Amino acid sequence: MNVGVLGTGHYVPDNIVTNKDLEKFVDTSDEWIRTRTGIEERRIAGDDMDTSDMAYFAAQNAIEEAGIDPTDIDLILVATVTPDTPFPSVSAMLQHRLGAEGAAAMDLGAACAGFLYGIATAKQFVETKTYKNVLVVGADKLSKIIDWTDRNTCVLLGDGAGAVVIGEVSEGKGILSLELGSKGSGGEYLYQNKEGHMIMNGREVFKFAVRQMPESSVKVVEKAGFQKEDVDYLVPHQANIRIMEAARERLGISEDKMARTVQKYGNNSAASVPIALSEAVKHGKIKDNDLIVLVGFGGGLTWGAAALRWGR
Ligand code: UT7
Repeated sequence: MNVGVLGTGHYVPDNIVTNKDLEKFVDTSDEWIRTRTGIEERRIAGDDMDTSDMAYFAAQNAIEEAGIDPTDIDLILVATVTPDTPFPSVSAMLQHRLGAEGAAAMDLGAACAGFLYGIATAKQFVETKTYKNVLVVGADKLSKIIDWTDRNTCVLLGDGAGAVVIGEVSEGKGILSLELGSKGSGGEYLYQNKEGHMIMNGREVFKFAVRQMPESSVKVVEKAGFQKEDVDYLVPHQANIRIMEAARERLGISEDKMARTVQKYGNNSAASVPIALSEAVKHGKIKDNDLIVLVGFGGGLTWGAAALRWGR
């Protein structure tokens, strides 16, 4: 059976926070942030919007694009490190709010790589014919756990959610190969402390990511039986333009073949890849039969990648 994406969706809050806005309360500069990360602005959700709200809007969008009814969803997987509460899960909240009658629901934690873990999990359930349609959401309200006095982290992140519906697609299409991995020894480089704040050793995470993202991207292409030259579009985790560029250069593809939302949304954690994917689909950057690569990395340390033949 071929398993792929039936629909994509995303949501970001309206509130824009620019680099200049950050300059007002933390020792940083627009110039530093732009040149070191590629970020110009990010979206920050208000107190009235939590992770489940953004997840809900993104999910609605994906379900609509898939052309199915919420009652057709059998399983909901939400990748997040910032759930509204540890329980009930965001996925159970979504089940109720979407009216996905009887759907199974669980949250999944693999930080920024969570969405890749989500689609890999969804694929297994569809392939084994356990479930037909699986909703996979990546959603994070990182602004809840940011220490707004820590310039090492607060300038990098933004809130948002992205979603896909995973189900059966036609012969030759869908997810062709997957790569998941973790390296717990690097857990100390990116974690949430007892006070609830995100702590990061940027340089160490950078060193890891700049090696892992290119390596995993090439690996999934080869696993799928293709070569770098065959790749039509790359959707990398939007952490830092310099890390993304490393992956693009390793694949040897041109700039216009890489999804880029980092400048306007920053790093959206588990939501980065599905937001960038959904935007690329809506802007016509990804076309039927394109060979695309999704790749991400995050706290854990974790990573994941997938090669897909786009279309249903
Ligand atoms: O989803 C995964 C999450 N995280 C990541 O992907 C982050 C990976 N790491 C990175 O993207 C980069 O390491 C950063 C953007 C975080 C930092 O860039 P860098 O080129 O590695 O800079 P650095 O850590 O080597 O720091 C250079 C200097 C330091 O000052 P000193 O020690 O040289 O005097 C920092 O204190 O820049 C300073 N600095 C800042 N200056 C202005 C750090 N943050 C800021 C800031 N504004 N926001």
